[in-house]
Amino acid sequence: MITKPKGTYDVYGEYGKEIQYVENILQSLMGKYHYEYVRTPIFEASTLFHRGVGETTDIVSKETYDFKDRGNRDMSLRPEGTAGVVRSLLENKMYAREDKPIKTWYYGPMYRYERPQSGRFREFYQFGVEVFGSDSPLLDAEVISIPVVLYKLLGLKGVKVKINTLGDRESRENYRTALIEYFKPYVKDFCEDCQIRYEKNPLRILDCKIDNKLEIIKNAPQIIDYLNETSKQHFEKVKKYLDLLEIDYEVDPKIVRGLDYYTHTVFEVEAEVEGFGAQNVLCGGGRYNNLVNTIGNVDVPGVGFALGMERLMKALELENITLPTNHLDIYVVPIGEKALDYSVPLVENLRMNGFCVDMDYMNRNIKSNFKQADRLQAKFIILLGEDELKKSIVTIKNNQTKEEIKIKEEKLISYLDKNIEESEDI
Ligand code: HAM
Repeated sequence: MITKPKGTYDVYGEYGKEIQYVENILQSLMGKYHYEYVRTPIFEASTLFHRGVGETTDIVSKETYDFKDRGNRDMSLRPEGTAGVVRSLLENKMYAREDKPIKTWYYGPMYRYERPQSGRFREFYQFGVEVFGSDSPLLDAEVISIPVVLYKLLGLKGVKVKINTLGDRESRENYRTALIEYFKPYVKDFCEDCQIRYEKNPLRILDCKIDNKLEIIKNAPQIIDYLNETSKQHFEKVKKYLDLLEIDYEVDPKIVRGLDYYTHTVFEVEAEVEGFGAQNVLCGGGRYNNLVNTIGNVDVPGVGFALGMERLMKALELENITLPTNHLDIYVVPIGEKALDYSVPLVENLRMNGFCVDMDYMNRNIKSNFKQADRLQAKFIILLGEDELKKSIVTIKNNQTKEEIKIKEEKLISYLDKNIEESEDI
């Protein structure tokens, strides 16, 4: 048997319904925040990620799916969404629009050649937002608030927001110099990756999963002491807006993020659910005021985040949250050939009137049809037989109370309208 590639998974059955429920909530939420949908290709020129995500990041140095296309061009499957959205912003000159800030959202598969483990896939789905053209700390806070609101809407309780700042270019440079000086005597004790990080991006040593247990890393200088006035004020304002939005957060100086492009605010939301395992970061993001310039030589500030769909679904499962995925309003049971013909347009009509309707396609007997209606958790069953047809009536059975009534066909829609609640929306 041919099996799925390592680190990938299939979506079907109940899980498929749950994912779609969450996707619908995401889409509806983005409508409310007035963000616009963007979609970029799944593969891009490899240089985009080398320049955009950063040569020294694990993602680019070890994890991209690279290939040469038939025209001998170097291509990569996208490991994340930000670089592609920035490329699109530049190529389509969205940054020149008057209606700034340009607030965008996206959803789709990303690819990283990582060692598969719980919460870590080679193909995974990210939902993300990227906002361009404004430096306002209010947007940093809004971006942080989006996943928090989403998790709350879905009923997740065990989440912790951690924020930090990396300051502007000047502050970050000062901090970098201080770290290089501080780490100098200890470099030889670091893991292989951190020895390279020391040369290329010493900030990343702080969040190394291997070396972060070392005392010298715990006592390393903190960015907060190297921030210039502008950077300090930006961070203070982000915190003020988070307070106004009543978002609980913790300032964690160890949050530096795995991608090179951040300036000022960085954040992560962690799952605090028992059994979640090591990959407990539900989402992450931050401000990146130099990235657009690095990719396309235009100065456009940006801020955004992305969340992993698989980790979100896992958190929901571990918190035993049942999503309202069953919404079959009516199951139609025709008895006999004539009734079947009659129910074909009837089912279509009910669907066009906004109900979720299914019917018997398997020619089951009545008893098995009742069983099937239970399996599908239908709210109502419509029974159509010779007698009903003759009298232009339908028999409706409430599948919860098991109560059965007969009504005139022309009254059917208004009866159902009264008795079936609209499916839930946010
Ligand atoms: P990231 O931290 O690399 O950031 O990924 C964001 C989220 O994607 C993670 O918190 C995690 O939930 C999920 N994720 C990452 N790798 C995997 C994996 N192998 N399997 C399952 N889930 C995964 C970014 O990608 C940035 N582009 C975020 C951003 C947007 N920053 C600014 N704008």
